[in-house]
Amino acid sequence: MRVLVVGGGGREHAIVWKISSSRQVDKIYCAPGNAGISELAECVEINPNDFDAILDFVKYEWIDLTIVGPEEPLSRGIVDAFEKEGRRVLGPNSLGARIESSKSFSKDFMRRYGIPTAEYKVFSSYIEAGDYVRLKGLPLVIKADGLAAGKGVFIAETEKEAMDALRLIMKEKAFGAAGDKVVVEQCLRGEEASFMAFTDGKTIVPMASSQDHKRAFDGDKGPNTGGMGAYSPAPVVTDALEAVIMETVMKRTLKGFSSEGINYKGILYAGLMIQDGRPHVLEFNCRMGDPEAQPVLSRLDTDLVDIAVAITGGRLGEIDIRWKDDASVCVVLASGGYPGKYEKGKPIKGLEEVKSLKDVTVFHAGTSFNGNDVVTSGGRVLGVTATGKDISGAKDRAYEAIGKIHFEGMHYRKDIAQRALRRT
Ligand code: AMP
Ligand code: GLY
Repeated sequence: MRVLVVGGGGREHAIVWKISSSRQVDKIYCAPGNAGISELAECVEINPNDFDAILDFVKYEWIDLTIVGPEEPLSRGIVDAFEKEGRRVLGPNSLGARIESSKSFSKDFMRRYGIPTAEYKVFSSYIEAGDYVRLKGLPLVIKADGLAAGKGVFIAETEKEAMDALRLIMKEKAFGAAGDKVVVEQCLRGEEASFMAFTDGKTIVPMASSQDHKRAFDGDKGPNTGGMGAYSPAPVVTDALEAVIMETVMKRTLKGFSSEGINYKGILYAGLMIQDGRPHVLEFNCRMGDPEAQPVLSRLDTDLVDIAVAITGGRLGEIDIRWKDDASVCVVLASGGYPGKYEKGKPIKGLEEVKSLKDVTVFHAGTSFNGNDVVTSGGRVLGVTATGKDISGAKDRAYEAIGKIHFEGMHYRKDIAQRALRRT
């Protein structure tokens, strides 16, 4: 089988890595990929949002299956374009992807189907949003409606912070048209978890639980990022809680889609806040989490290609999906300055040495080649991922590997998985 993976971050490296062990796969392509992915797949310089070019490539290279990693092409309709041409693709169509690409759609959807979430209101007027902030009192959470790479959410503890966020999103348009509307919502307190599931629109099967670390600095301080690290399993998601999440969140969501005539296929990701033992949805994503995909796929014990083919064929119910008992921890190494401005092109040292370490995989995110050297080319650069018999062992191994890697300005959190360890 010939497979194309669309995207070029740590999540896509983890997908490519996982399918590279599939017996069914003869050849993997990745568009556009990165330096690490190029060791396992042929990287092709095609923009993930140029669907004509991608479809031409798929036809020309006789690709049997395309797996789409990031949200942007999904929300712009890559799956719709593939389905029109009768090509096999893993991911939801653009109507389904609205669950991520519009927070106002997603919140209204949750309200319609009784999915637990924070109280909220949607505004397209800056003045009305400001009035609501003053009426409600703080703390509040202010969210740009559209896609903002995980950076359009502000937890406002004071009125000034709330007004600054509204101004940044709605007046200064820091996220472009994504800020035409805002969601202002109640601030929930508790512990977060990422809950992902495979679905073919009829059957929904949970993936191993995980938790990411969104803030830039240790102790959950600093601005939100795309994610600075993740681990799996997440002890906060007990078997009993998983059952509640499946009933009140995942199955209700699937039922909601089907009531609205949307055949949602692919991955459904619920970002949850567990407050007083009950799950509340903070956001839905229409794809795997990044970096959650790295530790979660490290634990997947079933062929991902079998799963993908079953999903696209509407036969997910026939597959037995298994997870390894091991735990896995991924620590993101970021460029100095991320999630703000950062420099690129810094040579990365130590990658060869780390390759010999057992149970450690370095997933590349923002890397490229400068001649023969691997250099930084993005905010999140590497996801150093280790497995072990428990979270503590996996974490130690990941940090041990990080000790051997270096690039100028390298920044990472030293407390990834601490939350899980505090529970055990
Ligand atoms: P989102 O992109 O909506 O998941 O928001 C990004 C991050 O902001 C979440 O992972 C939480 O850490 C935080 N967040 C979002 N909504 C809320 C909320 N209602 N209460 C508390 N924290 C939130
Ligand atoms: N790590 C959070 C996300 O992928 O949205």
